[in-house]
Amino acid sequence: MAESAELILDGKSYSFPVTEGTEHEKAIDIAKLRDQTGYITIDSGYKNTGATKSAITFLDGEEGILRYRGYPIEQLAEQSSFIEVAYLLIYGKLPTTSELQEFSNQITKHTLVHEDVRKIFDGFPSAAHPMAILSSLICALTAFYPESVSPDLNKEEIDLNVIRLMAKLPTIAAWTYKNQMGHPLNYPRNDLDYASNFLYMMFSFPTEKYDIDPRIVSALNKLLILHADHEQNCSTSTVRLVGSANASLYGSVSAGINALWGPLHGGANQEVLEMLQAIQKDGGDTSKFIAKAKDKNDSFRLMGFGHRVYKNFDPRAKIIKKAADDVLSALGINDPLLKIAQELEQAALTDQYFIERKLYPNVDFYSGIIYRAIGIPTEMFTVMFALGRLPGWIAQWKEMRENKEPIGRPRQVYTGELERDYVGIEQRS
Ligand code: MLT
Repeated sequence: MAESAELILDGKSYSFPVTEGTEHEKAIDIAKLRDQTGYITIDSGYKNTGATKSAITFLDGEEGILRYRGYPIEQLAEQSSFIEVAYLLIYGKLPTTSELQEFSNQITKHTLVHEDVRKIFDGFPSAAHPMAILSSLICALTAFYPESVSPDLNKEEIDLNVIRLMAKLPTIAAWTYKNQMGHPLNYPRNDLDYASNFLYMMFSFPTEKYDIDPRIVSALNKLLILHADHEQNCSTSTVRLVGSANASLYGSVSAGINALWGPLHGGANQEVLEMLQAIQKDGGDTSKFIAKAKDKNDSFRLMGFGHRVYKNFDPRAKIIKKAADDVLSALGINDPLLKIAQELEQAALTDQYFIERKLYPNVDFYSGIIYRAIGIPTEMFTVMFALGRLPGWIAQWKEMRENKEPIGRPRQVYTGELERDYVGIEQRS
């Protein structure tokens, strides 16, 4: 590996150190670039720019590799639980039996939210998007736990904030759904595991017993594990940037929820279902929409295909596809939208147009199918993504704080007006 990178600018040579990660990713350290040369770099969307060094998640877009703290996502999805993976991401190691039990017990103990949170729900219009409510109420946790805002928290205080957030986000997410539906809220139960408790809070009714299906619990655990972290994606980078200002964990995660809401990011799973519904409403002719997707003069684009990082396939999609098939067959679901989805999937996997452009089904394509199959409404799909991504956001915020990283403050290339004098309004035309 090169020890340094040489840059020749205006006939002068500059040398910058090269750094290499444990998976042999290489980077040119330009920390002194502007001081030495007067130049900055510019990289719209930061596609070639590393914001940090991190030991949490490794992904290889070319090889379709995704590992949390070194463990392959395929093994974790098959053998672990979401709470165990959350512990792994946040604390850097798989927990012992007693550590996992304590972590799970602490989360169970903190699932209740202050009764005043219910009053905040009443202030939202019934048409409010669940992500708007979720980001607001997660930030509102700073009002109920004002000590969480301090930038000088010790380990125990940070751990308590972590537990409270892991415990209360599912309750708030489920209450967001029940509030939107006008249903009575379900309080969390201490006798249920994390995924079962969430399903109970979402779907239980006072008038009819909700039977928690272990097959759905298993599928939900897989979905949450597969969404738990994804290195420096848009929402995680948002959490880090906001957190770098010494903003609280709750405030930083609230910002991350808003970034995830964007249809180009976590909102993509909702866009997938809305695309399937539009195709169904138009008569269900998938070949017509596949032709539209290929037509460069047509604005229609297939949602849920391709990925900005994975060049050949999204390893999570392969696991979720199997989970989707298992859930649909286990529940005997015959949903016309799912038939449309399978026809689009076949086209993307066999048509050279999509193969050449690496437009294969991604994690958002299949996750929406499972969420719909287990009864989660489309507007809650991105909330489910946030539920899964929460431990990743927490782990990345915590790593940034522990590494004492500086406040993020990118530079710019100014392209505006040169200096000019103020003109009174009477002289303006
Ligand atoms: C994610 O999991 O955050 C999405 O795949 C987006 C990304 O990684 O850029």
